[in-house]
Amino acid sequence: MIRISTVIGARPQFIKAAVVSRAIKCFSDMHEEIIHTGQHYDENMSDVFFDELDIPKPTHNLKVNGGGHGRMTGQMMEKLEELWLETPPDMVLVYGDTNSTLAAALVAAKLHIPLVHVEAGLRSFNKKMPEEINRLLTDHVGELLLCPTPRAVELLSHEGIADKRVHHVGDVMFDAVQFYKEKAMDVELPCSIDDYVLCTLHRAENTSSKERLIEIINGLKSINHKVLLPLHPRTKATFAELEITLPENIQVVPPMSYLQMIKALSGCEFVVTDSGGLQKEAYFMGKMCITTRDETEWQELVDSGVNKLVGASAEKIKVAVEEVSSISTLPTLDSYGSGKAGEEIVRLIRNHAQ
Ligand code: UD1
Repeated sequence: MIRISTVIGARPQFIKAAVVSRAIKCFSDMHEEIIHTGQHYDENMSDVFFDELDIPKPTHNLKVNGGGHGRMTGQMMEKLEELWLETPPDMVLVYGDTNSTLAAALVAAKLHIPLVHVEAGLRSFNKKMPEEINRLLTDHVGELLLCPTPRAVELLSHEGIADKRVHHVGDVMFDAVQFYKEKAMDVELPCSIDDYVLCTLHRAENTSSKERLIEIINGLKSINHKVLLPLHPRTKATFAELEITLPENIQVVPPMSYLQMIKALSGCEFVVTDSGGLQKEAYFMGKMCITTRDETEWQELVDSGVNKLVGASAEKIKVAVEEVSSISTLPTLDSYGSGKAGEEIVRLIRNHAQ
């Protein structure tokens, strides 16, 4: 039996884990336990994903959330170490770049449990982002590094990691869109809306700077469409704290489920976001994207012209809106695999376990 301990805690990780868990379930000699760190805990940031995407119920919920990064990561580490000292798994599986990813990676490495990192090799080259630190450290202690794109493989080789540990498997989020997009058309959006732009905003570099937030909001105000904004709790708290009033064309709704997001993507004009995942999902659903960050881990989208990187500038958002409005057909990129990343990941895990 290959016993895998999967550690997830934040919204995008639930979606990625759903894809791989489904592929693991095909093998009777594999057993997966899911550990939820508790990083995201609101019903609409967590439970809804487990229900909707049919993810196995977590065997443990560490209930660690909020507070500073050190405290959050430290508390997760303490609890994970306790669990794995008692029952060590054969492998630890982590996704992406959150504090939950880093906590699990460090504990696995120190206990000499092989660590599998899905979404390895992504870099923004901005070490002020907590996510960049998390992914750098996770990759450097990982034993099996599974990259979504050829570029990610190349970036790892620049850091001296270019060996049997590194594989291009494709993007599990592409698998997810392929698998769920038909089903998504049956769900209801939280409000009835048409002729809209889909927007999300939660990245720390934007929500912790009043100047950046105001610029982005002014950019959104200049858009000649309604803006559907499913509001992340971090951003909601900042709006309240800074007493920011939103312009009339912005329609705020609570965080949406994965299927609702896919449906909202299918009906929108284009996307404005600072999320990593949504930049790709926009492309997978044939929509142009304006990214309110200074850099992106998904550079191939920018190079091919489907993603406009504008930082936090109202003026640049305005210019980008004009550009994306004139584009209706997107080029085809083959960087993200064929929708079989989940199967490939499980095949490599099984090989590694032998
Ligand atoms: C985290 C990840 C980020 C990922 C994002 C997806 C890190 C460093 N960042 O950012 O990579 O893209 O998740 O959403 O791990 N909160 C709630 N309810 C919740 C969840 C969070 O109120 O269900 C609050 C937290 O208490 C905190 C704030 O929102 O005050 C931010 O949450 P946090 O987990 O720190 O980071 P995210 O911004 O969600």
